[in-house]
Amino acid sequence: MKKFAFCLVLLIGAAYAGYVLAEKDSDELMQQAQSQFKPIPTELQEIEGITLTPERIELGKWLYFDPRLSKSWLISCNTCHNLALGGVDLEETSIGHGWAKGPRNAPTVLNSVFNIAQFWDGRAEDLQAQAKGPVQAGVEMNNTPERVEQTLKSIPEYVQRFRKAFPGDSNPVTFDNMADAIEAFEATLLTPGSPFDKYLNGDSQALSKAQKKGLKLFMNKGCSTCHNGINVGGGSYHPFGVVEKPGSKILPEADKGRFVVTETASDKYVFKVPSLRNIELTPPYFHSGQVWDLEQAVAIMGSSQLGIKLSRNETAAIVTFLKTLTGEQPRVEYPILPPHTKGTPLPVTGVSGNVAGH
Ligand code: HEC
Ligand code: HEC
Repeated sequence: MKKFAFCLVLLIGAAYAGYVLAEKDSDELMQQAQSQFKPIPTELQEIEGITLTPERIELGKWLYFDPRLSKSWLISCNTCHNLALGGVDLEETSIGHGWAKGPRNAPTVLNSVFNIAQFWDGRAEDLQAQAKGPVQAGVEMNNTPERVEQTLKSIPEYVQRFRKAFPGDSNPVTFDNMADAIEAFEATLLTPGSPFDKYLNGDSQALSKAQKKGLKLFMNKGCSTCHNGINVGGGSYHPFGVVEKPGSKILPEADKGRFVVTETASDKYVFKVPSLRNIELTPPYFHSGQVWDLEQAVAIMGSSQLGIKLSRNETAAIVTFLKTLTGEQPRVEYPILPPHTKGTPLPVTGVSGNVAGH
């Protein structure tokens, strides 16, 4: 009897010690995560250089959804950055004016305001500079700043909206102000409240055991040396193929990445580390858009960036963690756009004009 009681005490003791150790382990994991990542704010953020008045945000929304910013009247920002689809088009590389296929996969616009710069090669320093690109790119919306201004000026409701959004501007309907308004709208496209954000905010129950295992691997294998911060990426540039080139289908030779921006030899095949926020929603992966399966993308990262072969279990665990990065999608009410007038330049379809990338 005595012996039995003793065993019981030992057992309970061991279980308690195990529990304490596990708790400690889990606290350490949370602290490690909190030192490398930041949650997405639930409130609209003050962002340097962006004026976020309700008038400007609403105008930006109109412009974002208005296909008449394109020469064909078929293509809006939302065509390739569809807010019903995580801010992407689910194409390998985007299709634009005259069914022309562009050279790169469309990254999501969600949370992009937190990225260090815009585009895979970082060639636009912010969203304002970025927004002027696609409107003019031959393979995207194929328009000109003059024609866009003419279009907007021909629609009285737009003129009124620009006046309200840019008070004090004597000539408010300009291409630059169009970009400013779109930037303001894009700054509202945030996805807070993911399980991972809840975890970072101190709720240790927000992640399951399997998801925590994936998080641990993600940090301890070295993924978070590049994919870190508020966007779990988006903050730095690194070569694709640090250790091993992933093959010319996934890393096409012709796209030299950031080299084209800086003309520095060491920037050949360097790309902006993409954000992994909402990654589950935004296949296919990589700038070439050649990988549809997230597990395969993770395995490629292991060999190309870290020189390690992840086991199938490890890859699966990391993907389980990556799915906790899906946040609450912005609820956007589809705008009813004002009609055009006799002065509006009519649509032109077919392939013509400048065919350079944006
Ligand atoms: C025809 C498809 C298409 C259209 C239309 C389009 N985009 Fe894009 N967008 C892309 C592609 C492709 C890229 C990546 C290009 C690159 O990196 O060289 C991109 C990149 C971006 C990025 C950079 C995101 C990041 O993380 O680097 C933002 C922001 C963006 N587009 C916003 C817009 C806005 C705003 C509009 C409307 C004015 C627009 N796009 C119209 C295809 C499109
Ligand atoms: C040395 C920096 C670095 C490390 C380490 C790294 N990555 Fe990446 N990651 C990148 C870059 C750069 C890209 C963009 C590659 C491209 O398409 O040009 C990328 C792309 C990705 C993508 C595709 C994202 C998209 O939107 O297409 C995923 C998923 C990803 N990484 C996950 C991981 C995981 C998981 C690990 C750890 C096993 C990891 N990465 C390690 C730099 C890194």
